[in-house]
Amino acid sequence: MDKKTWANLHQCFRENSAEALQQSFQFHLRYTQAKDEYSATAHDLYNSIAYAVRDRLVDKWTETQESYYDQDVKRVYFLSMEYLVGRTLSNYMIDLEIRPEIKQALKALGHELEEIEDNDVEPGLGNGGLGRLATCFQNSLATLSLPACGYGIRYEFGIFYQKIRNGFQTETSDNWNRRGNPWEIPRPELMFPVKFFGKVVESKSPTGQPVYEWVDARDDVMAMAYDIPVPGYKCETVNTLRLWSAKSTRELDFEFFNTGDYLRSVSLKADTENISKVLYPNDNIDQGKELRLKQEYFFVSASLQDIIRRYKKNHPTFDQFSEKVAVQLNDTHPSLAVPELMRLLIDVEKLSWERAWKITVETFGFTNHTILPEAMEKWPVHLMEYLLPRHLQIIYQINDHFLKQIRADFPGNDELARQVSIVQETPERSIRMAHLAIVGSHKTNGVARLHTEILKNRVFKPFYQIFSDRFHNKTNGITPRLWLKTCNPELAELITSIIGDQWITQLDELKKLVPLADDAAFREQWATIKMNNKKNLAKYIDCLLGISVNVDSIFDVQIKRIHEYKRQLLNILHVVALYNRIKDGKGDGLVPRTVIFSGKAAPGYHQAKLIIKLIHSVGDKVNHDPDVGDLLKVVFIPNYSVSKAEKIIPSADLSEQISTAGWEASGTGNMKLALNGALTIGTLDGANIEIMEEVGKENIFIFGLEVEDVQKLDQDGYQPRDFYDKNQTLKRALEMIRSGHFSPEDPALFHPIVNALLSGDTFKVMADFEAYCQCQENVAKEYADPKLWFKKSILNSANMGKFSSDRTIQEYSRDVWNIQPVRRS
Ligand code: IMP
Repeated sequence: MDKKTWANLHQCFRENSAEALQQSFQFHLRYTQAKDEYSATAHDLYNSIAYAVRDRLVDKWTETQESYYDQDVKRVYFLSMEYLVGRTLSNYMIDLEIRPEIKQALKALGHELEEIEDNDVEPGLGNGGLGRLATCFQNSLATLSLPACGYGIRYEFGIFYQKIRNGFQTETSDNWNRRGNPWEIPRPELMFPVKFFGKVVESKSPTGQPVYEWVDARDDVMAMAYDIPVPGYKCETVNTLRLWSAKSTRELDFEFFNTGDYLRSVSLKADTENISKVLYPNDNIDQGKELRLKQEYFFVSASLQDIIRRYKKNHPTFDQFSEKVAVQLNDTHPSLAVPELMRLLIDVEKLSWERAWKITVETFGFTNHTILPEAMEKWPVHLMEYLLPRHLQIIYQINDHFLKQIRADFPGNDELARQVSIVQETPERSIRMAHLAIVGSHKTNGVARLHTEILKNRVFKPFYQIFSDRFHNKTNGITPRLWLKTCNPELAELITSIIGDQWITQLDELKKLVPLADDAAFREQWATIKMNNKKNLAKYIDCLLGISVNVDSIFDVQIKRIHEYKRQLLNILHVVALYNRIKDGKGDGLVPRTVIFSGKAAPGYHQAKLIIKLIHSVGDKVNHDPDVGDLLKVVFIPNYSVSKAEKIIPSADLSEQISTAGWEASGTGNMKLALNGALTIGTLDGANIEIMEEVGKENIFIFGLEVEDVQKLDQDGYQPRDFYDKNQTLKRALEMIRSGHFSPEDPALFHPIVNALLSGDTFKVMADFEAYCQCQENVAKEYADPKLWFKKSILNSANMGKFSSDRTIQEYSRDVWNIQPVRRS
């Protein structure tokens, strides 16, 4: 190519001027989409601008990957079953700092960027916090120029689309990729076989050692890679998110085909490809389904084969493996990586057991994300034996070695050995995946200080006794690029105009805002932006749901998965109490409130789905009652997602973080809302405690039982009825729900909720109700004093530095992965 042509191409694909971006856009509209001005759809316009942005990443991406090889650096591989990446175009324009130029380029051609952006399809490859955390981590890793690669599954159907019909959640499938995804690059050359079934045969090596072989396994599944670039903010690093898709090895099974059973042969192929078809829509619930186990193994096996392939390019032996490779297990979902790495090292690479085990433990780190018993993965031995017989055998062997060591180190302590065994004997012989992950990793961490303490002192106490040096805490974080700069541009600009833009990569800089909390003019600007955001959300709510909300009311926001432990019920009971107060004619002086909910319930979680219906039923009554007027509104925004969160969070006044103390591992919604100036009403749970320490006790509304109180109530025989009998407000609210006041068409509809509260009330809603209502009174009082409220709002944002995912990633890099930033000349 001559110099001039190259220079032109170079400009078209690399330069960030409005002119070059315009050329690039026009090029892709014509030559990639094959469209002209007459035929271009909104989607064509979106794809063309997406390709123009992607072009700007390609050289950086290639050079980043080359530098990792050239410098032979240690890399971290993040194994996660879930990612919630959000809207790619807007994020990447921010990372590359080309939003204004693109806006200008499109405007000159008669297009509005905001309209085109609305075509961004959000891949919903996750359920909630865990998947979004994985994506915030990817953003921080790249921004810090750390050599990393994320691995996951390219589900064809992501998290279901939630529709509300007559107040009930219904689910429809989310075929997010049906129009193609300009951000992913298929890599058909990168295919790894993944085997299932078969049996293990034993023979002897020439030295008399037992040798095992996995034979007769079905090898009709291939994992094919799709790569998505992950740029850092304002830097040269572009890492990779590699997602695996299941492909059948054979187009059709000719045995059936030849005997005329064409449809059977097609269906066998489809069965194989089902592995990556759908995300299990359960947050914190383990369903123990065979297909889920297949998914877990499929993605772990493909990822480890890929990691070993890459390592072997430059390393002739495995001596340096754990010096060059760190693998993080995002919860237990990828913990089959432990026996799979052992299998690959022993059966394929012919290493001894001892050497393979040392490498395995040094390579893996494990993050626990929950203490909910129903989320603790356990796989029945019979299922494992049937699907992955060699892995079961390796797990047994790992367990034998481990228990032998325990018996030697703690002689006579059979109880300890029973407690920590990877194999659970009753009620069903099963493999405890968390035990496997702890034993197979050199580090195990929780995701907030309290959570880690609970792991050490309760959930994994016996392990802490054995491996005290392996346990550590890494409090979660969020990326300020998305959760302030992108989602709240007006506030971000105000902050930058005062303290400069360093906060975007060093969130502690926000502390410089602390003195401004006492500056009336600054408070005024801050309040104006909050009001603008509230007006935007109010417009959206009106458009979407036909509910007109009072922008002067407290925007009281609870946005998260619907789960009993997160206690949306506590919130809605408080709404009923306020409603009754207004109906009793005691609404004078009441501070108006708009109570906003958003979140999905797992499709099989009936109680959570009934809570959604209750929110809607109470909302219907309250929102249509002329006695209530503007004083109280209940809004449920359907189909919660990353982009919905971006819309709601900047407008929130109050952040509801009201889980039963001890049950929420960390939470990250609490961080996002506080960063955007919402005040938290919360229990001393998860990261709320650390948020309180950072923002100061006087700037947060803490109420209710603490972890020890909850434990004591359980030990003493908790009687929820005592609280019901004592508190007339609570009694009346529950009676209304029980008697069908909110569901006249089906008066018994909410009995399961009332019965659960009055009989067991596992999550102590009844015990915390009074304290919650009192705390809400304080909230209202303080909201009525704008000077005080906005001072606190500013202090919340200003003190959120600790909760940047950059800090979290730096801690993992130092304490677990031992990786360093990679600089390029
Ligand atoms: P992978 O690591 O094989 O998945 O390749 C990812 C990218 O790394 C490739 O597309 C190349 O840009 C780069 N790369 C692969 N092998 C080498 C090498 O040996 N030296 C330098 N760069 C490499």
